[in-house]
Amino acid sequence: MKIIMLGAPGAGKGTQAKRIAAKYSIPHISTGDIFRANIKNNTELGQKAKTYMDKGELVPDELVVDLIMDRFKQPDAANGYVLDGFPRTIPQAEALDKALAANGESVDFAINVEVPDENIIKRMGGRRACVGCGATYHIEFNAPKVEGVCDTCGEKLILRDDDKPETVKNRLSVYHDQTQPLIEYYNKKNVLREVDGTMAMDDVFNAIVEILA
Ligand code: AP5
Ligand code: ZN
Repeated sequence: MKIIMLGAPGAGKGTQAKRIAAKYSIPHISTGDIFRANIKNNTELGQKAKTYMDKGELVPDELVVDLIMDRFKQPDAANGYVLDGFPRTIPQAEALDKALAANGESVDFAINVEVPDENIIKRMGGRRACVGCGATYHIEFNAPKVEGVCDTCGEKLILRDDDKPETVKNRLSVYHDQTQPLIEYYNKKNVLREVDGTMAMDDVFNAIVEILA
């Protein structure tokens, strides 16, 4: 099954993608996570990506498409995947379609997690990310057992650099300009499904499972 998670920054794509990946035994492929891992390891790709990410801008299509095509070659991607944060522009979506079509394949579901901008600002300010394993928490909605410490790996939790309020505003405007058009793109292909992302995390997950069933 090939699933795309659509939605604004902070809509809960990552939270849900991790659960879907676990339930259906397919990899969770997050371009944001891949870039953050590269930044942490100070690779050339990470250095390039960081200049865009820190401003809340998109990394150029070319870099992202190369990266994702490389990721698809790994054996765990052979039976499908859940894509989180890709595609994010029409050219990225077209590149994905072209790559899939070359093997006679296509996207099965594009799930749009709908959350209004007002809720987003609140969510991002409360998000904490693990420096060790990348797990995501929220100080109010999904708190770790011990404040500031990851339940899974015991590493420290931090506020992401791009979750500062000024950057979040820019990420939202970039989302509306460049990513929102994908909703219509996948609607035309009859694979778009909408989910109310303002519900509690478990309810959002159950709604998605119903769609995929
Ligand atoms: P990326 O990492 O993809 O960030 P994003 O799309 O902005 O998404 P987020 O990770 O911020 O949010 P999310 O929707 O996953 O929400 P989450 O589940 O964490 O990208 C970062 C940057 O990398 C981009 O700005 C860009 O520069 C670059 N990049 C990445 N991909 C790219 C691409 N394809 N092309 C170009 N550039 C690219 O949830 C958010 C918070 O809310 C958490 O604290 C969570 O616990 C909480 N929460 C989740 N669900 C709920 C709920 N139902 N109720 C209450 N709280 C909830
Ligand atoms: Zn961790």
